[in-house]
Amino acid sequence: MDVALEKRQVERAYDFYAPVYDFVFDWIFAPGRSAAIAELRVEPTDSVLEIGIGTGLNLPLYPEGVRLTGIDLSEEMLDKAIERVLELGMPNVTLKVMDATSMDFADNEFDKAVATYTISAVPDPIAVLREMRRVVKPGGALVVLNHFRSERRLAGRFEDLVAPVCTRLGWKSNLAMAPLLSRVGLVAEEVRKVNMFNGWRLLRCVNRK
Ligand SMILES: C[S@@+](CC[C@H](N)C(=O)[O-])C[C@H]1O[C@@H](n2cnc3c(N)ncnc32)[C@H](O)[C@@H]1O
Repeated sequence: MDVALEKRQVERAYDFYAPVYDFVFDWIFAPGRSAAIAELRVEPTDSVLEIGIGTGLNLPLYPEGVRLTGIDLSEEMLDKAIERVLELGMPNVTLKVMDATSMDFADNEFDKAVATYTISAVPDPIAVLREMRRVVKPGGALVVLNHFRSERRLAGRFEDLVAPVCTRLGWKSNLAMAPLLSRVGLVAEEVRKVNMFNGWRLLRCVNRK
Protein backbone atom coordinates (compact mmCIF):
# COMPACT_ATOMS: atom_id res chain seq x y z
CA MET A 1 0.00 0.00 0.00
CA ASP A 2 1.32 3.47 -0.86
CA VAL A 3 0.87 5.17 2.52
CA ALA A 4 2.09 8.54 1.24
CA LEU A 5 -0.52 8.55 -1.50
CA GLU A 6 -3.25 7.56 0.94
CA LYS A 7 -2.16 10.32 3.32
CA ARG A 8 -2.61 12.94 0.59
CA GLN A 9 -6.07 11.48 -0.15
CA VAL A 10 -7.06 11.70 3.51
CA GLU A 11 -5.79 15.26 3.80
CA ARG A 12 -7.68 16.30 0.68
CA ALA A 13 -10.85 14.51 1.82
CA TYR A 14 -10.94 16.27 5.20
CA ASP A 15 -10.04 19.66 3.75
CA PHE A 16 -13.10 19.12 1.54
CA TYR A 17 -15.38 17.94 4.40
CA ALA A 18 -14.39 20.74 6.80
CA PRO A 19 -17.19 23.23 5.92
CA VAL A 20 -19.96 20.61 6.35
CA TYR A 21 -18.37 18.18 8.81
CA ASP A 22 -20.19 19.39 11.95
CA PHE A 23 -23.55 19.52 10.20
CA VAL A 24 -23.26 15.98 8.82
CA PHE A 25 -21.45 14.13 11.60
CA ASP A 26 -22.18 15.84 14.90
CA TRP A 27 -25.57 14.29 15.69
CA ILE A 28 -24.63 10.74 14.68
CA PHE A 29 -21.44 10.64 16.73
CA ALA A 30 -22.41 12.78 19.73
CA PRO A 31 -23.20 10.04 22.33
CA GLY A 32 -19.86 8.29 21.77
CA ARG A 33 -18.01 11.59 21.97
CA SER A 34 -19.39 12.43 25.44
CA ALA A 35 -18.61 8.92 26.66
CA ALA A 36 -15.04 9.08 25.31
CA ILE A 37 -14.13 12.38 26.94
CA ALA A 38 -15.72 11.24 30.23
CA GLU A 39 -13.68 8.02 29.97
CA LEU A 40 -10.46 10.07 29.96
CA ARG A 41 -11.26 11.04 33.57
CA VAL A 42 -9.32 14.29 33.21
CA GLU A 43 -7.75 15.60 36.42
CA PRO A 44 -6.98 19.32 36.80
CA THR A 45 -3.20 18.75 36.51
CA ASP A 46 -3.40 16.46 33.44
CA SER A 47 -1.98 17.36 30.07
CA VAL A 48 -4.09 15.74 27.39
CA LEU A 49 -3.40 15.07 23.72
CA GLU A 50 -6.22 14.75 21.19
CA ILE A 51 -5.23 13.06 17.95
CA GLY A 52 -7.05 14.14 14.78
CA ILE A 53 -9.04 16.75 16.68
CA GLY A 54 -10.78 17.78 13.46
CA THR A 55 -13.15 20.72 13.88
CA GLY A 56 -12.95 20.41 17.66
CA LEU A 57 -16.39 18.92 18.30
CA ASN A 58 -15.09 17.42 21.55
CA LEU A 59 -13.88 20.75 22.91
CA PRO A 60 -17.07 21.69 24.84
CA LEU A 61 -16.98 18.28 26.57
CA TYR A 62 -13.69 18.84 28.41
CA PRO A 63 -13.63 20.18 31.97
CA GLU A 64 -12.97 23.89 32.33
CA GLY A 65 -9.30 24.88 32.20
CA VAL A 66 -8.16 21.60 30.61
CA ARG A 67 -4.55 21.59 29.37
CA LEU A 68 -5.15 20.19 25.92
CA THR A 69 -3.06 19.85 22.77
CA GLY A 70 -4.93 18.96 19.61
CA ILE A 71 -3.32 17.90 16.35
CA ASP A 72 -4.69 17.26 12.88
CA LEU A 73 -3.37 16.73 9.37
CA SER A 74 -6.01 18.94 7.75
CA GLU A 75 -5.52 22.70 8.05
CA GLU A 76 -9.14 23.32 7.05
CA MET A 77 -10.47 21.12 9.86
CA LEU A 78 -8.09 22.76 12.32
CA ASP A 79 -9.23 26.27 11.27
CA LYS A 80 -12.71 25.31 12.46
CA ALA A 81 -11.25 24.04 15.74
CA ILE A 82 -9.43 27.37 16.21
CA GLU A 83 -12.75 29.23 15.76
CA ARG A 84 -14.33 26.93 18.35
CA VAL A 85 -11.51 27.49 20.87
CA LEU A 86 -11.96 31.25 20.51
CA GLU A 87 -15.76 31.00 20.85
CA LEU A 88 -15.49 28.82 23.96
CA GLY A 89 -12.64 30.84 25.47
CA MET A 90 -10.27 27.96 26.22
CA PRO A 91 -6.88 29.54 27.06
CA ASN A 92 -5.03 26.28 27.72
CA VAL A 93 -5.73 24.67 24.37
CA THR A 94 -2.95 24.45 21.75
CA LEU A 95 -3.71 23.34 18.19
CA LYS A 96 -1.10 22.17 15.70
CA VAL A 97 -1.04 20.84 12.17
CA MET A 98 0.83 17.57 12.62
CA ASP A 99 0.92 14.05 11.27
CA ALA A 100 -0.05 11.64 14.04
CA THR A 101 2.20 8.95 12.56
CA SER A 102 5.34 10.97 13.40
CA MET A 103 4.56 13.43 16.16
CA ASP A 104 6.80 16.27 17.09
CA PHE A 105 6.49 15.58 20.84
CA ALA A 106 8.91 14.15 23.39
CA ASP A 107 8.50 10.70 24.90
CA ASN A 108 6.12 10.67 27.90
CA GLU A 109 5.04 14.28 27.30
CA PHE A 110 1.33 13.74 28.04
CA ASP A 111 -0.68 12.17 30.84
CA LYS A 112 -3.51 11.01 28.58
CA ALA A 113 -4.40 10.78 24.90
CA VAL A 114 -7.66 10.37 23.03
CA ALA A 115 -8.62 9.71 19.42
CA THR A 116 -12.30 9.86 18.47
CA TYR A 117 -13.28 8.56 15.02
CA THR A 118 -9.68 9.05 13.88
CA ILE A 119 -7.94 5.67 13.99
CA SER A 120 -9.81 4.41 10.92
CA ALA A 121 -9.29 7.73 9.12
CA VAL A 122 -5.49 7.60 9.19
CA PRO A 123 -3.48 5.78 6.55
CA ASP A 124 -1.38 3.94 9.14
CA PRO A 125 -3.32 3.24 12.38
CA ILE A 126 -0.52 1.08 13.80
CA ALA A 127 1.96 3.96 13.55
CA VAL A 128 -0.55 6.32 15.20
CA LEU A 129 -1.18 4.01 18.16
CA ARG A 130 2.56 3.45 18.57
CA GLU A 131 3.09 7.19 18.62
CA MET A 132 0.29 7.61 21.16
CA ARG A 133 2.03 5.06 23.37
CA ARG A 134 5.37 6.84 22.96
CA VAL A 135 4.15 10.32 23.93
CA VAL A 136 1.93 9.23 26.85
CA LYS A 137 3.54 8.55 30.22
CA PRO A 138 3.70 5.02 31.61
CA GLY A 139 0.42 4.27 33.33
CA GLY A 140 -1.39 7.03 31.39
CA ALA A 141 -4.73 6.44 29.70
CA LEU A 142 -5.28 5.95 25.98
CA VAL A 143 -8.90 6.30 24.92
CA VAL A 144 -9.96 5.29 21.41
CA LEU A 145 -13.42 5.63 19.95
CA ASN A 146 -13.94 4.08 16.56
CA HIS A 147 -15.89 1.82 14.26
CA PHE A 148 -14.07 -1.49 13.88
CA ARG A 149 -14.72 -4.39 11.53
CA SER A 150 -17.79 -6.26 12.67
CA GLU A 151 -17.31 -9.66 14.28
CA ARG A 152 -20.54 -10.80 12.63
CA ARG A 153 -19.71 -12.72 9.46
CA LEU A 154 -22.03 -11.03 6.96
CA ALA A 155 -21.57 -7.53 8.29
CA GLY A 156 -17.78 -8.02 8.30
CA ARG A 157 -17.86 -9.21 4.69
CA PHE A 158 -19.98 -6.26 3.68
CA GLU A 159 -17.47 -3.91 5.33
CA ASP A 160 -14.67 -5.61 3.36
CA LEU A 161 -16.66 -5.17 0.16
CA VAL A 162 -17.20 -1.43 0.57
CA ALA A 163 -13.67 -0.81 1.92
CA PRO A 164 -12.15 0.48 -1.37
CA VAL A 165 -14.90 3.09 -1.72
CA CYS A 166 -14.68 4.12 1.95
CA THR A 167 -10.88 4.50 1.69
CA ARG A 168 -11.40 6.96 -1.16
CA LEU A 169 -13.88 8.86 1.01
CA GLY A 170 -11.33 9.11 3.84
CA TRP A 171 -11.87 6.21 6.25
CA LYS A 172 -11.46 2.43 6.57
CA SER A 173 -14.65 0.45 7.02
CA ASN A 174 -13.00 -2.85 7.96
CA LEU A 175 -10.27 -2.08 10.48
CA ALA A 176 -10.08 -5.13 12.77
CA MET A 177 -9.69 -4.23 16.45
CA ALA A 178 -7.95 -7.25 18.03
CA PRO A 179 -5.01 -7.57 15.57
CA LEU A 180 -4.49 -3.82 15.68
CA LEU A 181 -4.21 -3.74 19.49
CA SER A 182 -1.99 -6.79 19.54
CA ARG A 183 0.41 -5.28 16.93
CA VAL A 184 0.97 -2.25 19.18
CA GLY A 185 1.04 -4.16 22.47
CA LEU A 186 -2.14 -2.64 23.87
CA VAL A 187 -4.78 -4.39 25.92
CA ALA A 188 -8.18 -2.73 26.27
CA GLU A 189 -9.13 -2.66 29.95
CA GLU A 190 -12.64 -1.60 29.00
CA VAL A 191 -14.57 -1.94 25.75
CA ARG A 192 -18.02 -0.43 25.41
CA LYS A 193 -20.34 -0.32 22.40
CA VAL A 194 -21.72 3.14 21.68
CA ASN A 195 -23.76 5.18 19.19
CA MET A 196 -26.47 4.11 16.79
CA PHE A 197 -26.90 0.30 16.51
CA ASN A 198 -23.99 -0.01 18.99
CA GLY A 199 -21.86 0.26 15.87
CA TRP A 200 -18.83 1.95 17.41
CA ARG A 201 -16.49 0.83 20.19
CA LEU A 202 -15.02 2.87 22.99
CA LEU A 203 -11.75 1.48 24.37
CA ARG A 204 -9.81 2.52 27.43
CA CYS A 205 -6.24 1.23 27.63
CA VAL A 206 -3.52 1.82 30.21
CA ASN A 207 -0.15 2.62 28.69
CA ARG A 208 1.98 -0.15 30.18
CA LYS A 209 5.59 0.36 29.14
C1 LIG B 1 -13.42 11.44 11.01
S1 LIG B 1 -12.45 12.82 11.45
C2 LIG B 1 -12.64 12.87 13.21
C3 LIG B 1 -12.43 14.25 13.76
C4 LIG B 1 -12.64 14.39 15.27
N1 LIG B 1 -11.74 13.51 16.01
C5 LIG B 1 -14.06 14.10 15.65
O1 LIG B 1 -14.27 13.33 16.60
O2 LIG B 1 -14.97 14.68 15.05
C6 LIG B 1 -10.78 12.20 11.28
C7 LIG B 1 -9.73 13.28 11.47
O3 LIG B 1 -8.43 12.68 11.47
C8 LIG B 1 -7.56 13.55 10.77
N2 LIG B 1 -6.39 12.80 10.32
C9 LIG B 1 -6.34 11.84 9.35
N3 LIG B 1 -5.08 11.38 9.23
C10 LIG B 1 -4.33 12.04 10.15
C11 LIG B 1 -2.95 11.99 10.52
N4 LIG B 1 -2.09 11.15 9.92
N5 LIG B 1 -2.51 12.83 11.48
C12 LIG B 1 -3.36 13.67 12.11
N6 LIG B 1 -4.68 13.75 11.80
C13 LIG B 1 -5.16 12.95 10.84
C14 LIG B 1 -8.42 14.09 9.64
O4 LIG B 1 -7.87 15.25 9.05
C15 LIG B 1 -9.74 14.34 10.37
O5 LIG B 1 -9.82 15.62 10.91
